[in-house]
Amino acid sequence: MINVAILGFGVVGGGTAEVLKKNHDIIKEKTGADIRIKHILDLRDFPDSPFAALIRHDFSEIINDPEVDIVIEAMGGAHPAYDFSKAALEAGKSVVTSNKLVVAEFGTELLALARKQGVRYLFEASVGGGIPIIRPIMNDLVQNNITAIDGILNGTTNYILTQMSACGASFSDALAQAKANGYAEADPTADIEGHDAARKIVILAALAYGKCISPSKIHTEGITKISSEDVNLAAKRGYSVKLIGHAEKADGKVLAFVAPRLVPAGSPLRDVSDVFNGILVSCDMLGDAMFYGRGAGKLPTASAVVSDVVDIASNGASGTFAKWEDAAENDIFPFEEYSCRRYFRLAGCRSEIFKAFPDSEEIPSASDEIALISGKTSEKETAEICELLARNGVRVLSHIRVL
Ligand code: HSE
Repeated sequence: MINVAILGFGVVGGGTAEVLKKNHDIIKEKTGADIRIKHILDLRDFPDSPFAALIRHDFSEIINDPEVDIVIEAMGGAHPAYDFSKAALEAGKSVVTSNKLVVAEFGTELLALARKQGVRYLFEASVGGGIPIIRPIMNDLVQNNITAIDGILNGTTNYILTQMSACGASFSDALAQAKANGYAEADPTADIEGHDAARKIVILAALAYGKCISPSKIHTEGITKISSEDVNLAAKRGYSVKLIGHAEKADGKVLAFVAPRLVPAGSPLRDVSDVFNGILVSCDMLGDAMFYGRGAGKLPTASAVVSDVVDIASNGASGTFAKWEDAAENDIFPFEEYSCRRYFRLAGCRSEIFKAFPDSEEIPSASDEIALISGKTSEKETAEICELLARNGVRVLSHIRVL
């Protein structure tokens, strides 16, 4: 018998309890693991819940219970989620989490602590919701050099962009629906400004390249500046607009960033819609592998949480460990040197614009504005071009990188 305690009875914690209860027998049949929920920690009471008798309000009851083998942290936020995770590991209990903020910010320390204590710290649900991605990168792709990762990593923003482009919904209505569906963070700023996706690409880059960059050090742009004009103009050339987390190793350093991108026809990411996430992992031996599924929501995320619980129940401390260290300044590829093609929507003198972007392709626009796809330029060169255009009275209305 494996006893678990769930910290937080919100969307993810509630879903985890449901999966463990509903699929208890199938898990036992397939793996032999007999998993019992012993405690659920929350500030609130849930008198009408089938789990009402398990609700606790005091973490010390859990940490001091020698029968608890695994603590499932589903609280979200940095504190006390980090503090409780650390205390649980120190008490010799394995920890499973869906908390990407804690993994991205404190994962190096918590992984080292777990290793020292002979227990596990697992976080399959922290990236891609229900999609298996952490374990495949750790286990199944280790024989590959991962050349790049491009992922639609945030279900809320993908849902909003899809609703805006396919159904003509307004940004605020689409966001309200994402909240109602249980996709968005408690503070959805983290979703729409790209911070949630930044934490996730940091975790994937750490797994792929062994260096964990603080999310605050990566370029992060959200979707709040994307307009329906841009979405429609991009569609004329077969592109869809997606919020993409990108990671690669360049010149022996790690590059990671999050930004909206124009995704071309032919890319498997182009038609990943609604709450779905898609993660394209480019490998030197396998080639491209695409991981696709529901990137947020109660039961999909809980499914990933429970996969970690089953892993620990089956393999104990001998299962695979993520291995990474905190990135030094010198490990980080400078974003200013990143080069790609770019979409621009501009207002101003036509000849100035095409002098600045000589090898560009215009997208016909119904208005006086000029839309184009430029040739490849670096971030640094782009900033210089935009500065020059501004001096010549040209306004840059939109700038979106092409994938
Ligand atoms: N708010 C997150 C998203 C939840 O929308 O993707 C899953 O991590």
